[in-house]
Amino acid sequence: MAEAVRVLKVVSEATGAVFEFDELPFGGAAVDLAGDPLPAATERACLESDAVLLGAVGGPRWEDEPAARRPEAGLLRLRERLGVFANLRPVRLGRGLRRQSPLRDEVLTTGVDVLIVRELTGGLYYGDRGSRRDRTGVRAFDTLVYTDAEVERIVRLAFDLARRRRRRVAEFDKSNVLETSRLWRRVTAEVASEYDDVGVELYYVDNGFLQFVRDPARFDVVVTENTFGDLLSDLGAAVVGSLGVLPSASLGEEGTPGIFEPVHGSAPDIAGRGIANPIGAVLSAAMMLRYAFGMEREAQAVEDAVDEVLEHGPWTADLAPPGVEPVGTSAVGSALAGIVRRRLAASPAPAAGWPPNDGIRYWLAGDHGFRPVFADDELPPGVAK
Ligand code: IPM
Ligand code: MN
Repeated sequence: MAEAVRVLKVVSEATGAVFEFDELPFGGAAVDLAGDPLPAATERACLESDAVLLGAVGGPRWEDEPAARRPEAGLLRLRERLGVFANLRPVRLGRGLRRQSPLRDEVLTTGVDVLIVRELTGGLYYGDRGSRRDRTGVRAFDTLVYTDAEVERIVRLAFDLARRRRRRVAEFDKSNVLETSRLWRRVTAEVASEYDDVGVELYYVDNGFLQFVRDPARFDVVVTENTFGDLLSDLGAAVVGSLGVLPSASLGEEGTPGIFEPVHGSAPDIAGRGIANPIGAVLSAAMMLRYAFGMEREAQAVEDAVDEVLEHGPWTADLAPPGVEPVGTSAVGSALAGIVRRRLAASPAPAAGWPPNDGIRYWLAGDHGFRPVFADDELPPGVAK
C-alpha cells in the first residue's frame, strides 16, 4: 500500500491534483486496536471519502477470533455498507508475464485479456448461516440467495462493459443443480436479448473453469456470482502466473465511494519482510484514478509503467526470472514512480477543466482502457439510464 501511495503522490506532483489521504485501521490491525475489524470511525470515514484504497486483510493471528471479529468479516461489512455490488477483476497477460504462466506457449499466443465481473454483495457471503449440534452431530449451513434485481444490475453492467471490449459475455453458473443459478441463467438470457451486438455464452461453472484454463483467449467478459467469482479470480491469477499483480475495483451506485484493492491476500508467510509484490496494489490505485476520479490519462500512465517493469524489471521474488536477483517491494515502487513521473511529464495534462470528471456518468471499457460516458451523452441502444 505504501508503494501505491508513493505512485499516487507522483501523480499528484505531476498534475497538481490534490489527494487527501486518511489512513485508517482496518482488519487485523483494527481488531488489535479496537476489538473490531471495521471500527465505527473507519466505516464513517470510508462513507465520507471519494474512494477507499484497501490493503489485504487476514492472517493466522486472527484465525481463532470469533467469526464477527475476523478481519474478513470487516471486509464483508465494508463491501455491504458501501453497496459495492460490482467487483471488476481484469486478468491480463502482459508481455512480461508470459514466461511466468504455467500454461504452454501455444495456449498463450492468442493472449489473455479477461474482465471478471464478480457479484460482490449477495449470495453465500451474505445469506443466513449457522452451526448447531443436534442428536446426529454438528450441523452447519450457509444460504445462497439472489433476487432477480441483484442479478440483473450486475449482468447489465457486464454487457455494457463488453460493448467497449470484444463484445462477448460468458456467464458461469451451476443451473443444472442450483435454483439461484437457474435465476442467473434466465436473467442473463433476458438481458442478452437486449444486446444484439454482444455475444453471450452460458457455461456450467465447472466446465467454464476447464475452458478458462484450456483456452483463456475465448473469454472477454465473464460475469458470475460472488463465490464462483472469488474462485475464478484466483484461477485467473494462476493463468497469468502471479496473484501479486492483479488489481480490483468494487463499485456501487453512481456517486458512492468504490473500494480499490489487490486480489491477493495478506501473505502472512512473507509479512513485514519488504519483499511482497506491490503491483497488485499499484494497479488498484490506477483503477481508482480511472473509476473514482476520472483520471484516465494518469491511470494509463501507471498501467504502462507496470507493463514496462513487468517486462524489463526490477522484479520481486515471485516474478524474477531464474538467475536474476530479486529486489524488494520499495525498489519496484520506486522504479514505477520514476516511470510514471517521466510519462506524465512527457504528455502534460490539458490546463482547463481538469480533472475532467465533471458530469461523468460512468466508465465504459474499451480496447485500450476505458472512456468516460458523460451525463448528456447519447447512450448506446439498450443501455439503461
Ligand atoms: C477476495 C478475498 C475475500 C473474498 C476474502 C478475504 C473474504 O478472497 O477478495 O477475493 O472472499 O471475497
Ligand atoms: Mn479471493
